[in-house]
Amino acid sequence: MNTVFDCNIVALEKVKNRAGNLSAVQNLNNIPFEINRVYYIYDVPGGSDRGGHAHKELEQFVIAVSGAFDVLLDDGVNKTTIRLDRPNNALHIKKGIWRETRNFTSGCICMVIASHPYDPDDYINEYENFKLYRNQK
Ligand code: TYD
Repeated sequence: MNTVFDCNIVALEKVKNRAGNLSAVQNLNNIPFEINRVYYIYDVPGGSDRGGHAHKELEQFVIAVSGAFDVLLDDGVNKTTIRLDRPNNALHIKKGIWRETRNFTSGCICMVIASHPYDPDDYINEYENFKLYRNQK
């Protein structure tokens, strides 16, 4: 399904009982990097696009804990768009991948589990700079 280099969906276990489901992300267990930050995006106005950058070092698990949205991934050669719509699926975005998020459903919550603290210097915000960065690799 996924043609962009090194990004993949990680299926989290769904623990079911009569009162609902539960999924867990646990450091050094079912996530391939150390968790240093968790943030979540909510109250996204209809029609809004987010993202539009790459990271030099940051890796992320992106989870649609409620609702759904699309993630466009671009490794500089290949592009793909993945719809996240299940709380037990995590999209692993590795470093150096351009991403854009869009088509958020109303009331959607996007949770991101990240490998590093917030650092504005880790961002590549211009697509041209991203292409230069990839070509240097
Ligand atoms: P950004 O990473 O661009 O979000 P998205 O990729 O969803 O569009 O961040 C949006 C704003 O939030 C930007 O001003 C930086 C700020 N921010 C923090 O203060 N802390 C964080 O952990 C993150 C991810 C962003």
